[in-house]
Amino acid sequence: MTLSSQPSAPLVVVVGATGFQGGSVVRELIASDKPYRLRGLTRDDTKPAAQAMMELGVEVVAVTISVGNEAAVLRAFHGADIVFSVTNFWEHLDVSRELAEGKLMVDAAKAVGAKLFVFSGALSVTENSGGKYTHIIQWDSKAEIAAYAQSQLPTVNCQAGYYTINLANPYVGPRRLEDGSYVWEQPDLNDQLYPYIDTGYDYGLWVRYAIESPEYNKGGGTILTWGELLRPSEVAAILERTRGIKIKVTTWADRETQRKYLESLGAPPHVVLDVIEHAFMSEFGYYFGQERSEEQQKIRAALARKPRTLEEFLKANPEFFKQ
Ligand SMILES: NC(=O)c1ccc[n+]([C@@H]2O[C@H](COP(=O)([O-])OP(=O)(O)OC[C@H]3O[C@@H](n4cnc5c(N)ncnc54)[C@H](OP(=O)(O)O)[C@@H]3O)[C@@H](O)[C@H]2O)c1
Repeated sequence: MTLSSQPSAPLVVVVGATGFQGGSVVRELIASDKPYRLRGLTRDDTKPAAQAMMELGVEVVAVTISVGNEAAVLRAFHGADIVFSVTNFWEHLDVSRELAEGKLMVDAAKAVGAKLFVFSGALSVTENSGGKYTHIIQWDSKAEIAAYAQSQLPTVNCQAGYYTINLANPYVGPRRLEDGSYVWEQPDLNDQLYPYIDTGYDYGLWVRYAIESPEYNKGGGTILTWGELLRPSEVAAILERTRGIKIKVTTWADRETQRKYLESLGAPPHVVLDVIEHAFMSEFGYYFGQERSEEQQKIRAALARKPRTLEEFLKANPEFFKQ
């Protein structure tokens, strides 16, 4: 553990330090043998996750990142050598707000003279699917923020993989039937590989790599993150084995049935469209096959430790998906 208070140690400002991604970034930087000063941001420094950061020795600063609050964001970013930043679409479901807050953080990082901006971005689905899937708005917005950041200051676009906890998400996870068994509807039966990641535990490994590797720490490029590539059939088998349940992997009868189901959960129309178009993952792959590139394999091999497999995540979290 090498948290430092020496001015010679780079100051890393971590947006979302109380969350899955930012929390993992903080823990991985603390685990590094390189010294850092760490400042974690939260809107509420009295919450337990913020208190836990303080106990780790992190300087915790309360700030709300929002349009109109630029001066406070500048103060919170002041002195940063490196900024890690994440937006949180799923909290408000407003893509224009995500874009505005993302760009605001880019501008603030540039204004305080940060030498590296690591953004939790995404590949543009519209672009990579050749215009076939245009409703994954919260990926396209992240890709737009990443591109804007790359035009403004040295930036790494570090995309989070498919969260293991999505398995308990009613929009996309297996659905429990009355007899206690599960059905898991897919867009089709491609049985495509998905890059599962235990985000709260592992995501920071790649951000640490971005910060510490001479190839990435001057900015540029995209880093893709995952613990294990798994097909839905393999995930179902792992859940069956570890949780003693039965899961039938099948397809949605049609889009209309899926739409009605999502509406019954209260999803607004733009979110219904977004979730239905997750079909792109099954057709093209979550990372459009880019995770197989030599570059991404090289990054993976250079991580400070191995990320968790899905089975390891389930063993470490016995309450998750408990029957
Ligand atoms: N589910 C997936 O498979 C998946 C995959 C890739 C990417 N993603 C993306 O991951 C993002 C969420 O990241 P996460 O999982 O780390 O989220 P999270 O665990 O919900 O944490 C969100 C963090 O952001 C902070 N935050 C949110 N709004 C803020 C604001 N206006 N000002 C200051 N801080 C703010 C929160 O701080 P406080 O609450 O403490 O203030 C919290 O620390 C989403 O944009 C989602 O699209 C998800």
